Amino acid sequence: MRNCRLLIALLMGLAASELAMAQKSPTPHTTRQPKVDPQSGLVIAEGYNMVAAHCSACHSPSLITQNAMSRERWLETIRWMQDTQKLWPLGDAEPTILDYLATWYGPKTQSRRPPLAPHLMPKP
Ligand code: HEC
Repeated sequence: MRNCRLLIALLMGLAASELAMAQKSPTPHTTRQPKVDPQSGLVIAEGYNMVAAHCSACHSPSLITQNAMSRERWLETIRWMQDTQKLWPLGDAEPTILDYLATWYGPKTQSRRPPLAPHLMPKP
């Protein structure tokens, strides 16, 4: 019985701290978090199907999700893969793929919390 109460208290504490974290998050409540495909880690949005089809054949999609590039840089990366890595022409899918990449993996995407202020970093 005692253990059970302890567990409940623990769980309530967890819930409370999660709530506090959610409130501290800089993203306003109105901004909906995009859905992410658990397998690829890619955001599920317009163009997702094409990106999943064309861009996960040779390497893990994590190469995409860990990048943040402008549309031009994404295009350069695609051209580079086409010139040197045997990536096929993307044809009609290319603009959609570029829109998707620049939207969800663009330079301004805040996919992580901002870095800690220097004075909050642990001492080396
Ligand atoms: C035909 C094979 C192939 C396909 C298909 C492919 N890539 Fe690549 N890509 C590569 C290879 C090879 C590398 C280099 C991998 C490495 O360095 O380990 C690479 C690297 C990358 C990198 C990292 C570039 C860097 O500078 O580090 C990104 C980002 C990337 N690909 C995105 C994409 C996207 C977006 C697509 C879909 C349009 C795609 N890839 C489809 C072969 C491919």
